[in-house]
This record gives sequence, C-alpha cells and structure tokens, in this order.
Amino acid sequence: MITPVSKRVYIETYGCQMNLADSEVVGGILVKEGYSLTQDMSEADVVLVNTCAIRDNAEQRIHGRLGLFSRERRKRPELIVGVLGCMAERLRTRLVEETRVVDLVVGPDEYRKLPALIDLAAEGEQGIAVRLSRVENYEDIAPLRKKGVSAWLSVMRGCDKFCSFCVVPFTRGRERSRPLSGVVEEVRGLAAEGFREITLLGQNVNSYRDGDHDFADLMQQVARAERGVRIRFTTSHPQDMSDRLIEVIASEPNICEYIHLPVQSGSDRILSLMNRSYSIDHYLGLVEKIRQAIPSVSLSTDIISGFPTETEADHRETMDLLRTVGYDGAYTFKYSAREHTKAWEMRDTVREEEKGARVFEITTLQHEISARRNERLVGTDLDVLVEGPSRKRDDFLVGRTGTNRTVVFPNGNETAGETIAVRILRSNAATLFGENAAGRLAGGEAA
Ligand code: SAH
Ligand code: SF4
Ligand code: F3S
Repeated sequence: MITPVSKRVYIETYGCQMNLADSEVVGGILVKEGYSLTQDMSEADVVLVNTCAIRDNAEQRIHGRLGLFSRERRKRPELIVGVLGCMAERLRTRLVEETRVVDLVVGPDEYRKLPALIDLAAEGEQGIAVRLSRVENYEDIAPLRKKGVSAWLSVMRGCDKFCSFCVVPFTRGRERSRPLSGVVEEVRGLAAEGFREITLLGQNVNSYRDGDHDFADLMQQVARAERGVRIRFTTSHPQDMSDRLIEVIASEPNICEYIHLPVQSGSDRILSLMNRSYSIDHYLGLVEKIRQAIPSVSLSTDIISGFPTETEADHRETMDLLRTVGYDGAYTFKYSAREHTKAWEMRDTVREEEKGARVFEITTLQHEISARRNERLVGTDLDVLVEGPSRKRDDFLVGRTGTNRTVVFPNGNETAGETIAVRILRSNAATLFGENAAGRLAGGEAA
C-alpha cells in the first residue's frame, strides 16, 4: 500500500500563463500535504492535467493526452488521473462519463480540495469539485516554482467581461483581486529567491482593485519595491487601460516597455458583436497615447479570424489595422464556437478553410511587419536579461529585451539572470542576433 505521504504527482499544464501559475499553486498545496512532484510520468502515482478550454483544438489535444494516460493505467491500474482547470470546469461530470480514465475533476477554484480528493480516489471513489468562488485567490498558498530567472504571479482571478466568444468567464468565474500588500510582499520574496523578472497576471489586469488602489498603483508599488527586478504584466483590455497606468509604465524604469493589447478584430461591426466595448477609433487613440508616452514601446495583439458573419470586407479592415498599428507581434486564432457563450447562438458562418485562409494572410502580413520592426534595431545596443543556453546551439545564449524580443548571442559565460548590453548584428521576424557589447566575445558569428 502506498501511503499518501509518499505519493508522487506528475502535473502537465496547457493553456495560458494563468494556468501555468495555477499549476504552481497546485504544486504548493500538494507538497505542503506531503506529496512530492515528479517530472517523469512513468514513476507517478497521480497524473494531473491542468487543461484549457479556450478553443476546441485545445480540448482535442487534451483528449488525446487522456487517451495516453488511459493506456498507462491499463499497465498500472492503481494510477490516479485527474483533470484540472478550465476544461474540468466546462465539462464537469461529462469528463467522467465520457472517458473511462478520469478519477478527479477539479475546477480552478477548488484546488484546496485536491489532497482529500486524491485520498478518496485511492480508495476507488471518483471526485468532482467544480464550484466557482467569488473570493478564492489562494492568497496564503506559496506556489511551488522552479528556480529560475522569471516568475509568474497571479494578481487577480476570473473575468467579468463576457466577450461573446469566450469561455473564460464561465470556466474561471467572477473577477477578484489579491490584496496589494500581499502581492508586494510576494514580489520581495521572489527577488530574494533570485528571480529577475516577474510577470503580474490576470485575464484583465486593468480591472485589478484593492480598496482605493487600482492596477496602476499596484504596478508602481511593485516596481518600487524591487528596482533590480523587471516587471511585466498581461493581459490588458483596451477598454480599461488608464492614462495613469501608461504614465506608470513610462516613468518606472524597471517596468518593461511591452504591452499585449488584444484587439480581436479591425471591424467595428465585429467588435460590437464580440461585446468588446471599444471602437477601432478608441483603440487607435490608445495606441497613439501609449506610443507618445513610451516611444520605444513594443505592442502585440490577439486576433480572431472568422467570427460569425465576418465578411471579406471585415477581414480587410483587420489587415488594415495591422498595417496602421504596426504591431511587434500578433497571435491569430481561428474562431472556435464555445458552448454557453453568446456567440454560440450565432451561426458559425465562416467556413473552416476560409478562416484558415484569413489566418494565413494575417500571419504572413504580420511576419513582414515584425521583420521590418526588428530590422530597425540592427546596429543598436539593447539591454538583455540572460535566460540560458539557446535551444538550438549550446555555444549560444538566449535572453530577452524589455520589449520582449528574443536575442541570441555567443556564449561568453554570461550567467542566467544577468543583464548585459548586446550589440544587434542581424535579425529576422522572430529573433535578434548579436554579441555582448562589452566586447568579451567581439566578432562572434551569430547562429
Ligand atoms: N483575457 C485576455 C484573453 C484571454 S484568451 C484578453 O481579453 O485579452 C486569449 C485569446 O484567445 C483571446 O485574446 C482571443 O484572441 C482568443 N480566443 C478566446 N476565445 C476564442 C474562441 N472562442 N475562438 C478563437 N479564439 C479565441
Ligand atoms: Fe475572455 Fe474577454 Fe475576459 Fe479576455 S476579457 S478572458 S477575451 S471574456
Ligand atoms: Fe485556457 Fe482557461 Fe487560460 S480556457 S486560456 S486555461 S483561462
């Protein structure tokens, strides 16, 4: 018999950064109860998969993984399999009924129950915990993070925006914020542990609120608490981005000059159907304001292609917007109809091939724009936070600029977590290549 104290848990995570942060919370909860984590599924007693429900293809991928866990369980019948996260919240009992593998279904607000549910599962009982909470923010849980350069820190949970295409308000529930003092304290702790970059997370961080304090106050206090740490944040809804926040980003030197500002579509008609609550005029005004306050700023966006009734003309407006804004990066998705959302009731009118063709046009255009924007940096020196060896070649290191650009340069024994100036020698749409400007390895041929 395996006693609970010796149980080894393997966690696999899909979806957004909030899910990555949640898996660290889950790790914190389990380790406190005597479990240990393993990176190796074959030696695990418990397999947990933290899931995403944002688009159908995200869910299909997870169904594929569940098939694999099912084969693993045929070999080891005592293996416990649990589904966590947004898909657990969305499908609930259906997950247990439709798959024969799942012992646990635990939604994003019920992770405190995991140790008890795992114990029950070990006795052969299935456990389902999917209540959403108005208050749960795991404030007292110390997330179990891997030591490294960058850390995630959730400052709020849930979303009240109800964009008509989106499942998040249904899978994560209502907005709630962590107390400002707790966040600042955690930032200090992370700095002391050696983290050099912290990303504050929320589905719509601009809705952050603690009494009279808003997100701009939080960012300012966090930045001032640890000047040696780079501060990032994601995601901002274009409707609520305040002038004060722009001012704080512009004036605090350790806040990164990078803003992810999802626009979703370039057509006012589609934006209104999406319940995005801003117009392209408002959005362009915001971009203008941001660029004036932070001239070196880098901007990225999310686009959905093929939202119900989207015409070729709407698509052209999105293409035009991309040209007008000149983003540094864009993530483009084919619209995927999600049950319970407002848009689910509209017909999914755009054919899949058409969606695919539009996505392709957008990504091709953005590729050109990104390449051009990166090219302008050739010949300049940029501050780069060193992350570690390049994945492709270990005689090269990789790091990122404040504007979130990836920079590859010859390994001169710089250490991860160090910030160095890199002279940029060449670029493509995704990466800058350079050498340490201090000249320790001058003349190195970039990969
Ligand atoms: N809270 C963030 C978005 C989180 S989801 C925000 O509002 O910016 C990340 C992205 O997934 C969204 O920006 C959107 O572009 C995309 N997305 C969400 N629901 C989708 C759906 N049903 N089909 C296709 N893409 C979707
Ligand atoms: Fe979804 Fe809109 Fe909330 Fe973002 S703001 S999580 S797209 S509902
Ligand atoms: Fe996916 Fe849930 Fe995040 S649906 S994108 S994991 S909030």
